[in-house]
Amino acid sequence: MGEPRQIKLLDMSLKLKNLMLNTSVIQSPMAGCTDLPFRLIGRSKGMEFAFLEMISAEALIRETPESEEIMKRTPEDRPLGAQLVGCNADSMAQAAQIIEDLGYDLLDLNLGCPVPKITGKGAGSALLIRPDDARRIFESIMKVIKKIPVTVKMRSGYEDPSGKEAILISRIAEDCGLSAVSLHARTRAQRYMGNADWAVIAKLKEAVGIPVIGNGDIFCAEDAKRMKQMTGCDGVMLGRGALGNPWIYRQIQAVFEDHPAPEKPTFADVKAALMNHLALEIDFIGERKGLLQMRRVACWYFKDMPGAAQFRTKINVCQSVSEMKKLIDDFEPLSTLSV
Ligand SMILES: Cc1cc2nc3c(=O)[nH]c(=O)nc-3n(C[C@H](O)[C@H](O)[C@H](O)COP(=O)(O)O)c2cc1C
Repeated sequence: MGEPRQIKLLDMSLKLKNLMLNTSVIQSPMAGCTDLPFRLIGRSKGMEFAFLEMISAEALIRETPESEEIMKRTPEDRPLGAQLVGCNADSMAQAAQIIEDLGYDLLDLNLGCPVPKITGKGAGSALLIRPDDARRIFESIMKVIKKIPVTVKMRSGYEDPSGKEAILISRIAEDCGLSAVSLHARTRAQRYMGNADWAVIAKLKEAVGIPVIGNGDIFCAEDAKRMKQMTGCDGVMLGRGALGNPWIYRQIQAVFEDHPAPEKPTFADVKAALMNHLALEIDFIGERKGLLQMRRVACWYFKDMPGAAQFRTKINVCQSVSEMKKLIDDFEPLSTLSV
């Protein structure tokens, strides 16, 4: 890694098989977060490409209510990728076929999930130490997918932080005809501890010919620029940094294109986006579930503002949409600073 490289930040496009993206900034899949309302708000502020939350291949095949809900989208919610998690090559291929038939723009395979419920079955990041199973899954999917790009998202390793496992699996993916790899530069064992080790992204970029999308700890536009410069990655993927901050996509775009930074959102802009998110969420999943979801979402928008902790306490017991709207309306970040 070492000194920042001279790389072309201006290259804002990403070609993945037949999918030409006008951006190299990708929104990552996040279970419980990247639902339809999140994506619609994001797209209204500059998000170009997004993913559904991960879906279990078996749940998709069985058409469970949970998977049906995750897959809801609208015509403006494109280009959009779906992500599958699973370990059985036959059901992964069957689910992949369904994803392509439903008209999603890209299929991603989850080899990064660290949750024991998933890894215990040999899926998610457990596949990082099962290269033969990973190959079987890639091969069976590539046999059925005709048009859309297939990509894989992984962590650096299961326990080994060197990146050896990610490089081996990415080479297998390339060999099987997958179109790109995204790397969250932490191991399964690290979960979210410490910093993501971007040096592993640089190593992976050197090791494979397919595009490498770097992921981990991008919280502002400057982080994205540093990651691109330090690793030479072809694209950047952001996760937590976009929660409650849908303005980040244009900010990154501006830094990459060497344009002046867009104006920062005012507090009124933040409140308006949050109110909009609330309306979409209630529309999407109804009042009872929508309120529960919005208890989390509202805190994303006000995080780091003075008074956010008190706001969280109140919102967590909020029982109705009108009460929540009033809490949002009344929130005044400077009030705790007043003397
Ligand atoms: C709440 C939550 C849910 C996540 N769900 C998924 C998922 O469904 N699929 C996936 O590949 N990664 C998932 N991730 C990982 C993120 O996509 C991303 O790789 C990780 O947060 C590191 O990026 P960041 O530092 O920009 O957040 C999830 C992360 C969080 C915090």
